[in-house]
Amino acid sequence: MMSLSTLAQEILAEVAAAADEPQLEAVRVSALGKKGSISERMKSLGAMSPEERKEAGAALNVLKDRVAEAISVRKTYLQEQALEQRLASEKIDVTLPVRPQAQGTVHPVSQVWEEVVQIFGDLGFSVAEGPHIEDDFHNFTALNIPPEHPARQEHDTFYFNEKPDGSRMVLRTHTSPVQIRTMLSSKPPIRIIAPGRTYRCDSDMTHTPMFNQIEGLVLDGTTHLGNLKWVLTEFCRSFFEVDDVKMRFRASHFPFTEPSMEVDINCSWEGGQVKIGQGNSWLEILGSGMVHPNVIRAGGLDPDHVQGYAFGMGLDRIAMLKYGIPDLRAFFEADLRWLRHYGFRALQVPTLVGGLS
Ligand code: DAH
Repeated sequence: MMSLSTLAQEILAEVAAAADEPQLEAVRVSALGKKGSISERMKSLGAMSPEERKEAGAALNVLKDRVAEAISVRKTYLQEQALEQRLASEKIDVTLPVRPQAQGTVHPVSQVWEEVVQIFGDLGFSVAEGPHIEDDFHNFTALNIPPEHPARQEHDTFYFNEKPDGSRMVLRTHTSPVQIRTMLSSKPPIRIIAPGRTYRCDSDMTHTPMFNQIEGLVLDGTTHLGNLKWVLTEFCRSFFEVDDVKMRFRASHFPFTEPSMEVDINCSWEGGQVKIGQGNSWLEILGSGMVHPNVIRAGGLDPDHVQGYAFGMGLDRIAMLKYGIPDLRAFFEADLRWLRHYGFRALQVPTLVGGLS
């Protein structure tokens, strides 16, 4: 049998030579495992005289501890090495240019959504949200559209099945219910926009059953119609990226505002292409007005102390106007050729300083 010191040398040499964790584990098993070289020697202690056993046992225990310690040190070393190798091999250079074959584009509706949020964000508006499935109160009644009001017929509403109590939920027909939700959940001063999906049972070249609107609401003690006109004018100048845009505020009627105005912007048509800010045609782009006292009341606020304006605009419509997109339905067809043509580069995030489009 080889001497204990030779055995020690051999095992320690094997530990030092182990190139990775599996190899090291094999060395551990061959020395300290059940049938390992050190364990085998432990078994022979039984046949020794008590004195011999005491001495040999102590020596074996010393060896066992040394080997265990050497394995543990080697293991730590191998783990650190493996980590360093991984860090070196998985390094990525974030300064490299974007892969030229990147194919995805940002949908024009997403782009315009982001542009609108940027502009109104700069004007001090924050973004509010509401559910797409609404109850009758938020979508109609609280907006001063009681049952039997003719405006209900104009909305081509998608109704859900009747509930046991006879009420029916709806797919929201406009973003105006977010006005009510905001009033009920916060205190004036309120200054929000609410972009989002809306639904009406209607489909042709200029209507799709799902479309996008953006609502605006400002409520405090003093806001008046002049403020509304200024904000909308600023918005149009920023959004359409023209220094001067002529606008026409036409008296109109909405149940939730009094007085109400529809807003047209000046444009020209040349060869079927629309140009904003010139010519002698007009395009309607939004509805607006001073929030009706009944609506303020339904929102849990006191119309004797709170006043302000609201507006609602078709997001898809202003996207079509700005980017010369002729057919609304194409927005929602997911045609890859169309998306490549009208889409925006993913890293061109619209900002007021960097440019909107
Ligand atoms: N909710 C209206 C619609 O969908 C749009 C609208 C008009 C919203 C006037 C308003 C407003 O907030 O003041 O047709």
